[in-house]
Amino acid sequence: MQEKINQFTSEINSFQPKSNDELESFRIRFLGTKGIMKDLFEAFKTVSAEDKRILGKVLNEFKQMAEAKYQILKESLETVEKSTDSDLDLTLPGVGFEPGGRHPLSLVRKEIIEIFKKLGFNVAEGPEIEDDWHNFSALNFPEEHPARDMQDTFFIKKGGEKGDIALRTHTSSVQVRMMEAGKPPFRAIMPGRVYRNEAISARAHCFFHQVEGLYIDENVSFADLKQTLFHFVQELFGEGTKVRFRPSYFPFTEPSAEMDISCSICKGDGCQFCKHSGWVEILGCGMVDPNVLENCNIDSKKFTGYAFGMGIERITNLKYQIKDLRLFSENDIRFLKQFQSEMI
Ligand code: PHE
Repeated sequence: MQEKINQFTSEINSFQPKSNDELESFRIRFLGTKGIMKDLFEAFKTVSAEDKRILGKVLNEFKQMAEAKYQILKESLETVEKSTDSDLDLTLPGVGFEPGGRHPLSLVRKEIIEIFKKLGFNVAEGPEIEDDWHNFSALNFPEEHPARDMQDTFFIKKGGEKGDIALRTHTSSVQVRMMEAGKPPFRAIMPGRVYRNEAISARAHCFFHQVEGLYIDENVSFADLKQTLFHFVQELFGEGTKVRFRPSYFPFTEPSAEMDISCSICKGDGCQFCKHSGWVEILGCGMVDPNVLENCNIDSKKFTGYAFGMGIERITNLKYQIKDLRLFSENDIRFLKQFQSEMI
């Protein structure tokens, strides 16, 4: 009998039911009214009085062990079942995954980059937190220039190694970093976020996005600049879009110009968007000032170059007729959804 009990004990210990049915068979086999336990207790009656003393204890322990095992297995199967079947309501609607979409600014930035890439421009990036040298001084901003004023620039810290630390106000700072780090020729565009301390309204924000461009080589002329930008506009706004250049001023270019295009909304007839002039300004540009080249250790007798810079928001407004800049950063799903079909 002792041997049998040992055998059953190891069988019970290794028993691991996968279902309630298996557990129920276990119960019937060991603990049922015609089960093994019953048989053992019957057999116990017939053993000698001497054996009874020893076997009685063994048998009782075996019974307790079998019953405890059954209880534990029953409870663990119940909790498994609860967490799987019983909580699962197959009639509930599923959790859907809505396809995401590109932000309109990302779409337009990508389009702009693609056009310039085809013309052989690389894409360059730089830090959004800049020092005075890269954002202003190297770009020929006079010390007392109003653009350095607190009203335009978010200053972060006074007096670093290269002047005050601020959030960059344009990605021209990346042009300086590029020229300092390498040797001409340079042909690159610099997309990125820039910051200006302006009151937030439909027409102004404290940050926006730019794509600037730089081309430095021997014999680069204003004609190259005009031709490149003319081609860019035809690609982005369609064949037949007119351009015009108006003289302007930037500390880092000489001569400087602003470029207008014929209003893509009214095709030049005059509308609210172009304030009935038929033209909209989309970028600033010019020939890189020799002082800037020298500041970046480039021989201004040998090399010339052009630079331009545009705001992506303005171009997106024009392309999609968006009138309020704030929409770009509010993340209103109703606004963003309108661009989802243009997923790339
Ligand atoms: N950096 C100018 C701006 O932010 C744009 C610009 C770039 C103008 C290059 C001329 C040449 O307004």
